Amino acid sequence: MKSGLTLGIETSCDETAAAVIKDGREILSNVVLSQIDIHQKYGGVVPEIASRHHIESIFPVIHEALQQAEVTLADLEVIAVTYGPGLVGSLLVGVGAAKALAFAAQKPLVGVNHIEGHIYANFLTGKEIKPPLVCLTVSGGHTDLLLIPRLGEYEILGRTRDDAAGEAFDKVARVLGLPYPGGPQIEKLARAGDMEAIHFPRGLTDGDTFDFSFSGLKTAALNYLNEMGQKKQEVPLADFAASFQWAIIDVLTQKLMAAAEQYEVDSVILSGGVAANQTFREHVQAEAESRGKELLYPPVHLCTDNAAMIGSAGYFRYLAGQRSDHALNAVANLRLGDA
Ligand code: KG4
Ligand code: ZN
Repeated sequence: MKSGLTLGIETSCDETAAAVIKDGREILSNVVLSQIDIHQKYGGVVPEIASRHHIESIFPVIHEALQQAEVTLADLEVIAVTYGPGLVGSLLVGVGAAKALAFAAQKPLVGVNHIEGHIYANFLTGKEIKPPLVCLTVSGGHTDLLLIPRLGEYEILGRTRDDAAGEAFDKVARVLGLPYPGGPQIEKLARAGDMEAIHFPRGLTDGDTFDFSFSGLKTAALNYLNEMGQKKQEVPLADFAASFQWAIIDVLTQKLMAAAEQYEVDSVILSGGVAANQTFREHVQAEAESRGKELLYPPVHLCTDNAAMIGSAGYFRYLAGQRSDHALNAVANLRLGDA
């Protein structure tokens, strides 16, 4: 069946999501059921609770995605599902559902790497993506700087040696008593703050590595809060948030630009939840422009976890001949480029 219709399924963390994509680029439906409210009272995602909720929601969410797109299972050309990286119990729910549907409807199945999905969110904006390019994927679980010499090929230039950038946002926000996820909360607070007010360290910026480290920044931020507490001084929240956010943005942008120059690419792309940060987008835009490089990033709702990006990545993998069989399994620590 050459309908060009892909059902994408995503359950790697705390979003139960399904989407129908036409020809890998056009979103016919994009249903995201977030469990954020449920996990908020624990200050982060509780894996057991996440998988239980995925089990309850997965088929209603898929049903809703098909209905909104006004298609049936029989109309699909292929089913694509995230099989890693992520929480294994959560991944298994999506993988199990996708395998069952592929078997029942006799449709090809394609397992998708979640990080590749984040990159393909850029395909859903209507813009052309022309490799070679350098891509920065920044989310709650990942901070990966990649060279993409050709579509579907990835060379990892650098990654975080400790915390992911989103994780640093989330951990510091948690100490401030802000709800999960912390990134958008810190961004909101930072708007009224002075980003130069407090100087925080920039990890791994004086060597020639493309790796990242955010644990020193996190410790410095927590120490600052402790000291203020001991001195019984009020924390200037907006300045703190702005300075902390700026330390992350500054490092991410420096490394992305250095990679773009070293590998002489004309375009750079952002992906992942942290790429939803407006200050980050504006800063990278200015830095890219001043170097004559084009910048692409997905709209905010496609930066965070969704199944449209999985449908897009899966469709292009399918066109390239990739197929998964009924032995497809969840791989919690899947890396880009792993078969
Ligand atoms: O891509 P994503 O939805 O899930 C993962 O694959 O991890 O990313 C979620 C992460 C969280 O750490 C969240 O705090 C961060 O992205 N995030 C942000 C913003 N929106 C989401 N960080 C900074 N500023 C934001 N506006
Ligand atoms: Zn993600």
